[in-house]
Amino acid sequence: MVGLALLLLAAQDFAGSRSCAVCHSEIARTQAGTHHAQALGRTRDRRWAFGAGAQAVTYVSQASEDTYVEHGLSWYKKSGKLALTPGHTTPDGVTYQTFAADSNILRCFQCHSTGKLRLTPARAIEPGQPGVRCETCHGPGADHAAKPQRGNIRNPARLSAVEVNDLCGQCHRMPPARGEATNFENPWNVRHQPVYFSQSACFLKSEGKLSCLSCHNPHEDTKPLGDAKCAECHAKPRHTTAIAGNACVTCHMPVVNPSPLLGFVNHWIGVYRLTGPRAKLLRPIQQRTRR
Ligand code: HEC
Ligand code: HEC
Ligand code: HEC
Ligand code: HEC
Ligand code: HEC
Ligand code: HEC
Ligand code: HEC
Repeated sequence: MVGLALLLLAAQDFAGSRSCAVCHSEIARTQAGTHHAQALGRTRDRRWAFGAGAQAVTYVSQASEDTYVEHGLSWYKKSGKLALTPGHTTPDGVTYQTFAADSNILRCFQCHSTGKLRLTPARAIEPGQPGVRCETCHGPGADHAAKPQRGNIRNPARLSAVEVNDLCGQCHRMPPARGEATNFENPWNVRHQPVYFSQSACFLKSEGKLSCLSCHNPHEDTKPLGDAKCAECHAKPRHTTAIAGNACVTCHMPVVNPSPLLGFVNHWIGVYRLTGPRAKLLRPIQQRTRR
């Protein structure tokens, strides 16, 4: 469904978020302030800055007509300082051929911007619009902006929970296909929320009632999740463990640190062993109690 919709919409043109703001001013105002909207920017010396700074910013710049360099030092919010970019072993940076089949650079821009990528005469990459804006989730909207009505723009409110995983999974990474092996032991993979979420009993056994949109407003940044959300389905969870004073998510969606400077919530909602090495937080332990 989502795949087909994307294909059909791909033939249309992008209008840009400024055009949407004319009529949807309130959504446009809140969305503009999100980390999504700021996922790509430029520094004063014209480097590209990937990441809104919620956790980190990585710098990228064109090095020659055919190459881009991902800088070796990134800025981290936790330390307030520069340190090695994830995956790098020296501060020298890594050079990518812009158009090599395995080029990561075009892909960086794809996930951190909206609309079609263009090339300048000097073969510099120009995103349609920097950041994750309206039309990444709603599809190209020129037709709708010219003739606004329901039905000529995608409203993801009508997608199923599985389809929402795929929509967000375009960038947050797709849930594994049936039979596909996933390395759940690698702490770097915890930041792929749809992958982990797709494994949890809450998602699998709630008949499509729990999706990314149950806990996240798509036009705002995340807020701490109150226990009321869990209580919608778990009015009286059975505990032998003392839980008073702790939010449900502290224990059941624990934060995993792939490096001392980064942390991601484990979206595989489950029962975790909360003592011992952090690696124990990658997969739930077998459930000790059953309803
Ligand atoms: C000229 C005004 C106008 C512009 C520009 C505009 N919209 Fe709309 N939009 C509307 C109206 C009117 C509706 C229908 C509201 C209704 O009937 O409840 C609508 C509905 C929608 C819906 C819900 C559709 C549905 O089927 O439920 C979405 C999503 C949407 N707009 C997104 C966008 C996006 C994204 C842009 C920019 C690409 C945009 N709009 C630009 C006026 C506009
Ligand atoms: C076009 C790619 C793309 C799509 C599609 C996308 N995201 Fe994101 N998302 C990002 C990027 C990039 C960031 C990192 C922003 C930053 O730099 O902090 C992000 C960050 C987030 C955050 C963290 C915001 C915060 O508070 O810091 C949430 C929550 C999120 N996305 C949820 C979603 C959901 C839910 C969907 C589907 C409805 C979705 N995203 C679709 C690319 C995308
Ligand atoms: C498949 C889509 C995708 C690609 C390709 C991609 N990113 Fe991201 N990026 C994301 C998403 C989604 C997030 C939000 C992750 C999160 O916080 O959960 C993100 C977050 C980030 C952040 C903020 C720190 C963090 O981890 O939250 C930085 C910096 C970043 N990306 C840089 C890059 C660079 C540089 C490249 C290319 C080498 C790149 N990204 C390629 C989707 C992508
Ligand atoms: C990360 C994905 C994402 C981005 C970016 C995004 N939206 Fe949405 N939008 C959604 C989802 C998901 C829904 C359905 C929300 C729901 O019903 O829970 C939605 C709903 C809407 C609706 C219908 C609201 C209603 O009450 O019927 C409008 C209008 C809309 N978005 C406009 C915009 C505009 C304008 C922007 C850019 C400023 C934007 N969206 C950016 C995902 C997104
Ligand atoms: C839409 C309903 C729904 C919501 C909301 C929900 N869950 Fe669940 N959850 C379920 C269902 C259904 C099961 C499976 C129960 C079973 O197997 O009998 C489950 C199972 C669990 C389990 C057992 C894990 C396992 O592997 O069997 C835990 C722990 C849990 N949920 C915690 C939470 C927490 C914490 C929240 C809030 C962050 C939450 N749930 C939100 C429906 C939900
Ligand atoms: C049961 C509730 C729940 C669901 C469902 C859920 N999330 Fe989250 N998510 C959270 C909580 C809680 C946080 C941490 C918020 C905080 O305290 O800042 C979070 C954080 C995030 C972040 C910030 C980076 C991180 O991992 O900590 C992103 C991105 C994100 N979620 C994306 C998604 C996507 C995409 C989906 C659907 C596949 C999804 N979430 C489904 C509760 C949920
Ligand atoms: C201090 C950590 C902690 C907190 C806080 C916590 N839990 Fe649990 N939870 C556990 C552990 C450990 C188990 C396994 C059973 C046991 O030993 O108590 C469990 C089991 C569960 C189960 C599976 C048992 C069942 O009834 O099916 C659910 C559902 C659950 N918790 C939901 C919640 C909800 C909802 C909240 C918030 C009100 C919450 N938990 C708060 C640690 C915690």
